[in-house]
Amino acid sequence: MIRFLDLQEQYRQIKPEIDAAIFRVVESGQFVLGPAVAAFEERFAAYCGVKHCVALNSGTSALHLALLAAGIGPGDEVITVSMTFVATTAAILYCGATPRFVDVDPDTWTMDPHLVEAAITPQTKAILPVHLHGLMAEMDPLVAIARRHGLVVIEDAAQSHGAGYKGRPAGSIGDVGCFSFYPGKNLGAFGEGGAAVTNNPDLARQMSLLRDWGQESKYNHVVPGYNYRMDGIQGAILNVKMNYIEAWTEARRTVASHYDRLLASSSRYKRPAPPRHCRHVYHVYAVELSDRDDVQTALSDAGIGTGIHYPVPVHLQKAYRDLGYGRGDFPVTESLADGFLSLPIYPELGPDQVTKIVRMLEKASPVEVPISAINNLKASLPV
Ligand SMILES: Cc1ncc(COP(=O)(O)O)c(C=O)c1O
Repeated sequence: MIRFLDLQEQYRQIKPEIDAAIFRVVESGQFVLGPAVAAFEERFAAYCGVKHCVALNSGTSALHLALLAAGIGPGDEVITVSMTFVATTAAILYCGATPRFVDVDPDTWTMDPHLVEAAITPQTKAILPVHLHGLMAEMDPLVAIARRHGLVVIEDAAQSHGAGYKGRPAGSIGDVGCFSFYPGKNLGAFGEGGAAVTNNPDLARQMSLLRDWGQESKYNHVVPGYNYRMDGIQGAILNVKMNYIEAWTEARRTVASHYDRLLASSSRYKRPAPPRHCRHVYHVYAVELSDRDDVQTALSDAGIGTGIHYPVPVHLQKAYRDLGYGRGDFPVTESLADGFLSLPIYPELGPDQVTKIVRMLEKASPVEVPISAINNLKASLPV
């Protein structure tokens, strides 16, 4: 049995540190925000190469507050993608604004910058690219378009802790970067969590106010706000995990490179082509194939867990029918949704497991994976 995700193994490896950190918060009684969260904010801001981090209770809250702080409201339009988790769209709608989708690039699976300018209207206020699966969107042209048209750029970096674009970290290029610490994320809390990062002190201050009922001091509410605060225990856990995030990321990249090598000889399994200037952090390792459902069933029968990120694009979800889109509007997005299959990837995934997954893939949907490549993989993976 190979799980799609194995959160218990990671916990086992760092249990004494995690348990002690949780215990310290319990003893201190500072369960909401407090010093553990403040320490995490400082550390995560430095990791993202920015001045400010506002720790929150989810990635969705981060997107919502980033949009609100940037002044997005009813009547405004925000350009984003439909190949994402629904939270990206939901956050725009929470503000009373309208999402305007553009298709993704067939090679990188992220927002296609060539399509953005045509989607701009007098109502457009922001561009919200999604760094899908851990690969950053093509930020330079997107920022250039935004600056030309006076638009805000908000990065949905929920899946991309530590990802890079031309040496710059995810979250540091747009006006605000939004992260999720949902348990299965590359940096995951033991419950819900998120953060918004920025170099802009005004946006940081506004988001800090909004997350805590708009309070400047106790019971002094200067703007209508929300209860979007991070728990002390989550801050403490994330602080411990920050000690490992780079090692875990490199381990993910190693697993991905082995998949890449084994699948390179097959045209049946399409993978994204990360540009050389990007550091992909492989929150998800997805392949695209024509007989996805059969292959997924075969892997499941063999005890191998897989996922699909995402099977139905946002524009085709019943919940968002009112946006007025239909099948055929975003052909690349729709074809990816029909073909995506996410394979297990996590730092603890051992060499034998990677070998087994590739063997099963070969059996389920014959690919020309040379046996020598599998043997080389076994020999070269870290134990
Ligand atoms: C691309 C993307 N955006 C936003 C979110 C929302 O984050 P959260 O679940 O922490 O609210 C997620 C979480 O899965 C995500 O993958």
